[in-house]
Amino acid sequence: MALLKIHTFPDPILKQVAKPVTTFDSNLQLLSENMLETMYESKGVGLAATQVAVLKRLLVMDVYSGDEDATKLDPKVLINPEIQEKSEGTVLTEEGCLSVVEFTAEVRRAQKVKVRYQDIDGIFHTEELEDLAAICLQHEIDHLNGILFIDHLPVLRQKLVKKKLTKLAKKSA
Ligand code: NI
Repeated sequence: MALLKIHTFPDPILKQVAKPVTTFDSNLQLLSENMLETMYESKGVGLAATQVAVLKRLLVMDVYSGDEDATKLDPKVLINPEIQEKSEGTVLTEEGCLSVVEFTAEVRRAQKVKVRYQDIDGIFHTEELEDLAAICLQHEIDHLNGILFIDHLPVLRQKLVKKKLTKLAKKSA
């Protein structure tokens, strides 16, 4: 396994829409394993392929990432995920992102979602997720559509934040 480079704002790759996965082979297996390793290493709860500059509809997540009790770890790989239902009930959560360094903000999302996806062997599954898992899934699917959590902020705040983050990125480049 290997650690992958996580691309950060304002890298234009993050705005690209990822393409459906059609080939379920050992390369896909390796990519998902490397993405999980990269996610755990960065103490993130989710990572979308777009963030490692692979424009495929694949994401990994584990809401127990970073938990001291390693027996709780629950790695998930979701391929071609599609949200089929969203609850009317929403929650406001402080979100961060491995692609948006040193910034967090509150984002409103559905509290429960029903998702259909394929596993690493191409088998279809349907699952209901809630709370942190549901929020994480919606955040990661956004990545596959070229959307960052800061794109959900009110327009003026979004402009100010993006300006600030672009400046910071230039400084550290
Ligand atoms: Ni993210």
